Amino acid sequence: MSIETIPSLKGIHAILPDQIPAWLALEQTVGQILHQYGYRQIRLPYLEYTELFRRSIGEVTDVVEKEMYSFMDADDKSVSLRPEGTAGCVRACIEHGLLRQGAQRLWYSGPMFRRERPQRGRYRQFHQIGAEVFGLAGPAVDAEMLKMTWRLWRQLGLAGQVQLQINSLGTHEERQRYSTALVHYLQQHKNSLDEDSQRRLTRNPLRILDSKDAAVQVLLAQAPQLADFLGPESRDYLARLRVYLDDWQVPYLINPYLVRGLDYYCHLVFEWVTASTAAQNTICAGGRYDGLVTQLGGEPTPALGFALGVERVLMLLSAATVMMPAALDGYWIWVGEAAERRGWQLLEWCRDEIPQASWIGHCGGGNFKKQFAKADKSGARWAIVLGETEVAEHTVTIKSLRDPAVPQQTIPQAELVAYLRRQF
Ligand code: HAM
Repeated sequence: MSIETIPSLKGIHAILPDQIPAWLALEQTVGQILHQYGYRQIRLPYLEYTELFRRSIGEVTDVVEKEMYSFMDADDKSVSLRPEGTAGCVRACIEHGLLRQGAQRLWYSGPMFRRERPQRGRYRQFHQIGAEVFGLAGPAVDAEMLKMTWRLWRQLGLAGQVQLQINSLGTHEERQRYSTALVHYLQQHKNSLDEDSQRRLTRNPLRILDSKDAAVQVLLAQAPQLADFLGPESRDYLARLRVYLDDWQVPYLINPYLVRGLDYYCHLVFEWVTASTAAQNTICAGGRYDGLVTQLGGEPTPALGFALGVERVLMLLSAATVMMPAALDGYWIWVGEAAERRGWQLLEWCRDEIPQASWIGHCGGGNFKKQFAKADKSGARWAIVLGETEVAEHTVTIKSLRDPAVPQQTIPQAELVAYLRRQF
C-alpha cells in the first residue's frame, strides 16, 4: 500500500535549484544598485500584530479585508503573516528610534503572503525587494527613486519592456473632497456600475478608478478628475517632480486613474508596468506616504518607497533569456579504494586553496564509465580523475566536460591547485 504524498499549499511554491541562479543574479543586481544609492539593508519579521496592517494598509482594502493570513496567537492576540513590507519597516523604525537618527534609506527583501486567487504572476507566497526612505520631503528624492528603478530595468535589459506610470493623489484633504465629488457623480449612474464598483462606492470609492470594467471606464471618462481637486502646493510638487524626471531622461506617463490598492499614499504614486496585456503586469510599485509614521504612533516624518515583485521581474527576464552560469566547477572521479582515499584528500586541499570553486566528489563506487556518466549529468565543467595509475605515479588527470577541443591532461598532484587556479 503506498502512502499518500502531501502537496504544497495552492499558490505557495518552493524555488528549485535550477531557478536559484536567476534569483541570485537579480538579488545581486538590485542589491548593488541600492548600495550605489546609499540604501542600507534591514531584515524585518514575517509575523506582526494584525492591528499594524489594519491601521496602515487600511480596513477597507482587499489586502486587509480578504487576503491576510491571520490567526489568534496563544495569548489571544491576532497576528498576521506580512502581506507587504512597508508597515513592518515603519514599525521597526519607530520602535528602534531610527527616525531620530536623521534621514534613513532602507531596503529589505523576502516573502510576503496574500491569500489572492493564484494565477500566473500572482501567488499566495511571493517575494518583494522593497526600499523605503524616511525623513526627506520631495520631490528630488522621489525623482531619484524613480531614476534608480529606471537604472535597474536598463541594467537588466528590460528598458524596452516597461513603462512608468505616475499620478498625484494630493493631500488627504484634497483626496477627501475629490472622493465626495466622485461619489456624487457615480451615484447618478449607479445602475451602470458593476457589482464590485457598487460595493466600493460606499466603502472605498477611489478604487473604482482602477476598474477594468468597460462600462465603468466609459463613465469615468466623464467623471470629475482628481487633478482638478489638487491645491497649488500639490500641483507645484508634481510639476517640480516632472522637471527632475525630464532632466534625467526618465520616461513616464501620467495616469490620472492610478490610485493603488493600499490606503497610506499621498502625492506621488507610481507603477512600472509591462507592455503585456496580462492582468499581472505591474512589476514594481510605490509612492509617498507622509502620514503613515504618525498614523502608527511616530513623529511626523515624510516618507516614500516602492517594492518590486521578484517573481514578476524574473518572468520578464526569463522571456528575455538570461544565461545560466554552470553552477558546478568539477566532478571528482576515483576508481579503487586507494584512489578514492587520495582523491578525498586532494579535494579538501582544493577546497582550502580555491574557496570560490564548487566541487562534488563521487559517492557510491562504480567503474569509470558509470562515474563519467554522472559527471556529465552534473553539469560540471571539469572531471578530475584518479585511478590506479594516477595513485602509483602521484598524478591526477583533468578532462574538460564542456569543450572537446581542450585536451585531457595528466599532471603531478603537487601542481593540481596551481593548475586549477589558472582556470578561474
Ligand atoms: P504592492 O503594489 O501591493 O505594493 O506590491 C508591490 C509589487 O509586489 C507589485 O507591483 C507586484 O509586482 C508584487 N506583488 C504584489 N502581490 C503579488 C502577488 N500576489 N504575487 C506576486 N507578486 C505580487 C506594496 O506592497 C507596497 N508595500 C510598496 C511600497 C513600498 N510602497 C511604499 N513603499
